[in-house]
Amino acid sequence: MKIDIKALTQSDDQYIFEMIEEIGLGENGFTTNFTNHDYEEFKNSLPRLIEISKGINLPDGYVQQTIYWMYINDRPVAYGKLRHKLNDRLLEYGGHVGYIVRPSERGKGYGKLFLSELKKSAKSIGIEELLITCDENNLRSRRVIESNNGVLEKINEGICKYWINL
Ligand SMILES: CC(C)(COP(=O)(O)OP(=O)(O)OC[C@H]1O[C@@H](n2cnc3c(N)ncnc32)[C@H](O)[C@@H]1OP(=O)(O)O)[C@@H](O)C(=O)NCCC(=O)NCCS
Repeated sequence: MKIDIKALTQSDDQYIFEMIEEIGLGENGFTTNFTNHDYEEFKNSLPRLIEISKGINLPDGYVQQTIYWMYINDRPVAYGKLRHKLNDRLLEYGGHVGYIVRPSERGKGYGKLFLSELKKSAKSIGIEELLITCDENNLRSRRVIESNNGVLEKINEGICKYWINL
């Protein structure tokens, strides 16, 4: 099995766009960065997302964030976000990482694999304690986090707060 983790780039094309269309608006607190499913608009939105990944012209209250894709045997199967640091809001809801596996590729272990790869990316930018928040009833994602050594700090109003020591 060939596994590739790639940050979003301007050359992302139809293959990524198809995954984004399949993912739709997102689920369980993961929200897409691409609400309007139009290929041209998708292409036009990439430069701004690259700026945000570099921390350029961040709006107030935003933190630097990089979008990653996971490819299995050259097919994009998952979409993730890595925030380079936390703010007060993310500390309670959102955390450092969010991920989603495209519906047609779920249940194959890719969620677990993707988080293990995102941990490496987080470590490489200097994060030592990785925060992930997750709905209490999202059992699949909780399995993904727990099998990546997530330690549950608390459950507050239906939201689990997990930390992973990197
Ligand atoms: C959560 C999500 C990323 C998991 O991805 P996935 O590739 O399907 O997960 P995996 O195949 O790695 O499996 C993870 C766990 O879920 C379990 N699982 C997988 N498919 C399942 C199913 N149909 N029913 C019940 N459990 C299932 C697996 O058995 C595994 O648990 P285990 O270690 O006890 O065996 C995916 O369901 C998803 O994208 N959900 C919507 C977005 C979301 O919830 N993101 C997380 C926000 S915190």
